[in-house]
Amino acid sequence: MDLQLKQKTALVTGSTKGIGRAIAESLAQEGVNVIINGRSIETVDQVQRTLQLQYPDVSISAAPFDLSQEAEREALYHQFPKVDILVNNMAIFEEATFAELTLEEWRHYFEVNAIVGIALSKFYLPRLLQKDADGRIIFIASEAAVMPSPEMPHYSMTKAMNLSLAKSLSLQTAGTTVTVNTVMPGSTLTEGVESLLESLYPDIASLTERERLFMLNNRPTSTIQRLITPQEIGDFVTYVASPKAGAFSGEALRMDGGIVPTMN
Ligand SMILES: NC(=O)c1ccc[n+]([C@@H]2O[C@H](COP(=O)([O-])OP(=O)(O)OC[C@H]3O[C@@H](n4cnc5c(N)ncnc54)[C@H](OP(=O)(O)O)[C@@H]3O)[C@@H](O)[C@H]2O)c1
Repeated sequence: MDLQLKQKTALVTGSTKGIGRAIAESLAQEGVNVIINGRSIETVDQVQRTLQLQYPDVSISAAPFDLSQEAEREALYHQFPKVDILVNNMAIFEEATFAELTLEEWRHYFEVNAIVGIALSKFYLPRLLQKDADGRIIFIASEAAVMPSPEMPHYSMTKAMNLSLAKSLSLQTAGTTVTVNTVMPGSTLTEGVESLLESLYPDIASLTERERLFMLNNRPTSTIQRLITPQEIGDFVTYVASPKAGAFSGEALRMDGGIVPTMN
């Protein structure tokens, strides 16, 4: 299938590792010029160089900005005023119970996981609408958006906000070829999740065995009983970013290995 993505430009927030990096790589494979983002200049440059070597036919750019800071967002807009695809991927997450969480931490999660996507959409959506050429905004939420985790109530709340915002923004696109959607991954084998498995099962050397126990004990509702690969999410997001997926609008698209035990 030709996804008709060649020569488009995508900004993937938080794309130095994990799911964001996989999305960036999958897009580059399809001929998309990709803007790599993260907070550290060194890490962003390293990913930029690696992907540029791997995909010489596209342009890979570096956007080392802390997007939780307004001034750095302004610098991003100044350097990259035009994109065709915005993937609001970046988010923070950490386990904490409701009793432990301070109001300051709630505010911080709202600021990083919700406001950044709002701010970037405020800047890029009018431009996408003006161009009206299959522009895309894709939010990366989580199964926690529809199945809030008791270990991460703050994170879960912000992920539910992503769904609501994407639906609201999709209403602004009426009658155009621009779409706004959310993809909700389930537990995915990123570097962060690999470290979590290590800390949960320090006496077990095999990653496969750690993963098996994790799924059995910690993710029993997953029907695939394995972690999703970042590449699976990356390839799905690339499809949603393509003109071929133009009939998805305001959708909350689950790719969670069956972990949410409801029909929708
Ligand atoms: N992993 C999972 O199992 C899973 C499951 C469901 C949903 N998700 C969602 O998928 C998305 C990606 O998760 P992940 O696990 O791949 O994350 P990750 O491995 O922790 O990577 C986060 C990325 O965001 C960047 N980042 C963090 N704060 C930033 C900031 N203020 N400004 C710019 N960049 C920033 C990080 O780079 P620097 O540290 O260099 O800044 C890194 O590139 C998130 O929205 C998450 O909620 C993940």
